[in-house]
Amino acid sequence: MAEKLTNVVNLPSPHGGTLVERILQADPREYEHLPALELDAQGYADLELIATGVYSPLQGFMGEADYQRVLEEMRLSNGLPWSIPITLAVSRSQAALYRQRVRLVWHGRTVGLLEVEERYQPDKRQEALAIYRTADPAHPGVAALLARGEVYLAGGVYLLHLDRGPFPEHHHTPRETRQIFAQRGWKTVVAFQTRNPIHRAHEYLHKVALEQLDGLFLNPLVGATKSDDIPASVRMQAYKVLLEHYYPKERVLLGVYPAAMRYAGPREAVLHAISRKNYGCTHFIVGRDHAGVGQYYGPYEAQEIFSAFEPEEIGIQIVKFEHSFYCQACHAIVTPRTCPHDSKHHLVLSGTRVRELLRAGAPLPAEFTRPEVAAVLRSAYQAEALERR
Ligand code: ADX
Repeated sequence: MAEKLTNVVNLPSPHGGTLVERILQADPREYEHLPALELDAQGYADLELIATGVYSPLQGFMGEADYQRVLEEMRLSNGLPWSIPITLAVSRSQAALYRQRVRLVWHGRTVGLLEVEERYQPDKRQEALAIYRTADPAHPGVAALLARGEVYLAGGVYLLHLDRGPFPEHHHTPRETRQIFAQRGWKTVVAFQTRNPIHRAHEYLHKVALEQLDGLFLNPLVGATKSDDIPASVRMQAYKVLLEHYYPKERVLLGVYPAAMRYAGPREAVLHAISRKNYGCTHFIVGRDHAGVGQYYGPYEAQEIFSAFEPEEIGIQIVKFEHSFYCQACHAIVTPRTCPHDSKHHLVLSGTRVRELLRAGAPLPAEFTRPEVAAVLRSAYQAEALERR
């Protein structure tokens, strides 16, 4: 398992220096005698992300020393930058059942193992304030935190088998992406996180970056998201039609990021950047209100947070963009850095407005969304509306 990665000369080292790989390829029946712990969607996603090395150097769910230092200083107890606690929550009554090794169960199947080394009780208000900068239960990340169990179990994990989920041809481990980047001869790779369909403003960021860098790793988050975000299955169709019609095929890799969304804005931007370094990317795009929700974060706080670290500690270059939008006077996608015109010429549609148009079956402006993408979104909304009847 510790075999050396090949052809990675130009790609950044994993966070902490070594790519973590903890997949046993074992038969779940061997572990049936162990007590079972049912994971939630975030727990399962985190198990996979740890075991495949997306969260290198984590080897398991965090113990209290790491947890506290992450909250207070955005560092693991060994000093490495880390911004979001990766924890396994269980109820108090369940916690008493788990003493040593447990099997981790997801949708009725044994998917992994946890060597229980520690249990502790978090102060969730402190965690919410540190990570989300609010304890407001209306914040979806805070709501998810409060809904989880009161006790955290910590210790090393193993995944028994990698399930590539609903998008198997686009589900790569960091070992695989590093090999693909090297095979394609990319010396620089820019990663793009998204939880939305790709609109023209996003496309602009990609294409500006591709003017300078060799490859784009389009890495949409496909784990749990809040209910009014567009489902991953629809987004994946939309990404594919967009790539087919508007991107140079040999310069893009579409691969899913199986994490759950935290909506932690700046703190999540740091986790997103570290994860993409582990996939082997050299650059990471952080635009306006990255991983934000509502009005909880300032539009550029997710860029500013990186100044808390030395660039070499993060080890992936942050490519920052200001708000991009279509300007009817420029006839182009622009940002405040490139457009001299008054905001009355600017076409800016909120996510809410886009959803309203889609629900009404109305067209999305071509300046905002490519027609092929709009068609995928519209038919998904119409199918959903039919189902609800
Ligand atoms: S996110 O939660 O995954 O960040 P989204 O998919 O909307 O949401 O954004 C993906 C990336 O594109 C983030 O880095 C975000 O800051 C950036 N971004 C989205 N829309 C714009 C825009 N209009 N201008 C500049 N950056 C943007």
